[in-house]
Amino acid sequence: GITRHYKFNIRMQNVTRLCQTKSIITVNGKFPGPRIIAREGDRLVIKVVNHVSNNITIHWHGIRQLRSGWADGPAYITQCPIQTGQSYVYNFTIIGQTGTLWYHAHVSWIRSTLYGPIIILPRRNTSYPFVKPYKEVPIIFGEWWNSDTEAVINQALQTGAGPNNSDAYTINGLPGPLYNNCSSPMETFRLKVKPGKTYLLRLINAALNDELFFKIRNHTFTIVDADASYVKPFETDTIYITPGQTSNVLFKTKTLTSNAKFVMAARPYSTNAAGTFDNSTVAGVLEYMSTDSMSSSSINASIKGLPLPTLPVINATSYVANWTNKFRSLGSSQFPVNVPQTVQNRYYFAVGLGTDPCPKNQTCQGPINGTKFAASVNNISFTLPTTALLQARYFGKSNGVFTTDFPTTPLNPFNYTGTAPNNTMVSHGTKVVMLPYNTTVELVMQGTSIFGFENHPLHLHGFNFYVVGQGTGNFNSATDPTSFNLVDPVERNTVGVPSGGWVAVRFRADNPGLWFMHCHIEIHLSWGLRMAWAVMDGKLPNQKLPPPPSDLPQC
Ligand code: C2O
Repeated sequence: GITRHYKFNIRMQNVTRLCQTKSIITVNGKFPGPRIIAREGDRLVIKVVNHVSNNITIHWHGIRQLRSGWADGPAYITQCPIQTGQSYVYNFTIIGQTGTLWYHAHVSWIRSTLYGPIIILPRRNTSYPFVKPYKEVPIIFGEWWNSDTEAVINQALQTGAGPNNSDAYTINGLPGPLYNNCSSPMETFRLKVKPGKTYLLRLINAALNDELFFKIRNHTFTIVDADASYVKPFETDTIYITPGQTSNVLFKTKTLTSNAKFVMAARPYSTNAAGTFDNSTVAGVLEYMSTDSMSSSSINASIKGLPLPTLPVINATSYVANWTNKFRSLGSSQFPVNVPQTVQNRYYFAVGLGTDPCPKNQTCQGPINGTKFAASVNNISFTLPTTALLQARYFGKSNGVFTTDFPTTPLNPFNYTGTAPNNTMVSHGTKVVMLPYNTTVELVMQGTSIFGFENHPLHLHGFNFYVVGQGTGNFNSATDPTSFNLVDPVERNTVGVPSGGWVAVRFRADNPGLWFMHCHIEIHLSWGLRMAWAVMDGKLPNQKLPPPPSDLPQC
């Protein structure tokens, strides 16, 4: 591979959406951020300079970061934030991954406007294991707030209530024509295509708090990859994608000759259809190119007259369960499946929401009167330290920063399919799980379905895991493992843990460092649904984490 250099100037930029102009945090003034394009095997050297008043870090979501944990990016896990006026060079090599990943800020809710695609092409002189696409198009879903998202999360944490819903979903930063009359024609995503061609759509869900369904009217997709790993291709007309997930899909256009137009649309999935849930729809338009190309001003009116694609209902739980089942690793000789067949470290994590008490002299608006919302893994709500865990561990200064007594099974198990237990209070701590180098891990994650009945898209840094099983109800360690798929399970970095159900994953701890794992629904992350794995060095020099770069930010 070659080395590719990028410079990310983090700066404010005025952007107008939904009739309001707002100053947002961007990379180089662009929203969404610029594309990173590389080939498998390339080294990326990305200098990030912070010109804004907020602390910044950037995470290269899904990049394995083999022995380059200093470049992973989550604030207070692998690095201290880049402070105003400071810079940091992220330096890493893409090893064994081809497809679409993405980058986003990884401190507070800055990622609401700071995100962009990472496009990883096959090595030179190698090709995709599918038909060569005519063109490739990134499609990034997001969420837009008219107000400042730092104020939104700060207020939610203060009051203990859920955060304000976003004002719009977006496709490539654009809300589209369905958000009252406020979105101008310039705010609609237009996918212009030629008839009879195969396109590769690179889908990314960068939304903060919502899993999404996506559809283009009268068209179908062929899924060919998930989280930058190839899968056995399958056809679908509706895509389900959680925050953090990416997917490459082939999209074959019809052999039309007219200048036909079809609406594309995305809106959320939630097992909890009730309450104040945001069920709005973002739309864009698929335009078959013709000579009388339509002006921006007439496009909105024309889309509004077109029928929407029929998306599943918001709580289409069985659709989602079947969807997850359809994913299988490609498993060819060129792309083998390396799922661990034996397990050395076994964990059972209950993931879900809970409560914190309300501080004295304050009124709180949490789920039960007088509480605040919280979230936990095995009832531990993870407290972010004030220095970076990886630094503390590398320099032998872990004392007082984190402890290694993370529970391997739930402390107070209950029936996760039924009603919440009487006591929903969480405990707090900065606890990590220690993993010896190159040992194998099986992790079963159980959705507790306390409050809200939401899915939890769990994301693991530093690894891909194999999704070997999933099911409804309480995980049964005697019977459920007999049906695990140890042949061709899908390899991903983010998987939805169903509410009142479970998912089982396996991975090999072959990457020394400190690795964050968390729910990629941003409000759940903020509430504490996060933890970390400390993977020890191996004995050989090439099994150890190298020392940090000299410009690593200090706290
Ligand atoms: Cu995309 Cu820790 O996140």
